[in-house]
Amino acid sequence: MEKALRIALTKGRLEKDTIGLLEKIGYDCTAVKEKGRKLILPVPDGNLEVVLAKANDVITYVEHGVCDLGVVGKDTISEMQGTFFELVDLGFGKCRFALAAKKGSPFYGGYKVKTVATKYPNITRSFFESKGMDVDIVKIEGSVELAPLLGLADGIVDIVETGSTLKANGLEVIEDIVPVSARLIVNTVSMKLRQKEIENFVSLIEKTL
Ligand code: PRP
Repeated sequence: MEKALRIALTKGRLEKDTIGLLEKIGYDCTAVKEKGRKLILPVPDGNLEVVLAKANDVITYVEHGVCDLGVVGKDTISEMQGTFFELVDLGFGKCRFALAAKKGSPFYGGYKVKTVATKYPNITRSFFESKGMDVDIVKIEGSVELAPLLGLADGIVDIVETGSTLKANGLEVIEDIVPVSARLIVNTVSMKLRQKEIENFVSLIEKTL
């Protein structure tokens, strides 16, 4: 039998919908759902192997060709860039990038250079560059909502899904930036060498969308 196609899935908010999608196209994902501490999971009879990883790592593994395919949010793709094909908008994991600030505190206006906290410095830089606005960007790894509350930043650029995290912390959206959803990405060499299998996989997915 041919070597299994290997797909890297993003742990966390995309995980359930991605496994749901694989089940919908007929894959038995029992081992993936009952993974325990195991990191590489077989899909019986599917000639597919699943790796669960953090979003940035999904891109790294696909870019380096150790995974043929990946499912990852457009937020991570836009931030990290990289060389791979982005084949399908999977339609789940929908949210948006937005600029937010403390409720009632106008972000725009005044002469002082604003400080913006974010997990996504590249997206933030290009958003403000497109406005011709000079800002100081502070990279935060965890809950970026803390930065304006602690007085570190005037605003944040982050993904907003339901808006409940902003609301619970007295913040509000100042401006929507761009919509985000989960994407199927493919390694460029795999796309050439395993074209038929990948095309079959993609057409199964497209039928469910
Ligand atoms: C994201 C984001 C916000 C929150 C927005 O974090 O950074 O904190 O979700 O979602 P909401 O609009 O539905 O409240 P996530 O939960 O992915 O965790 P993270 O901080 O580990 O990235």
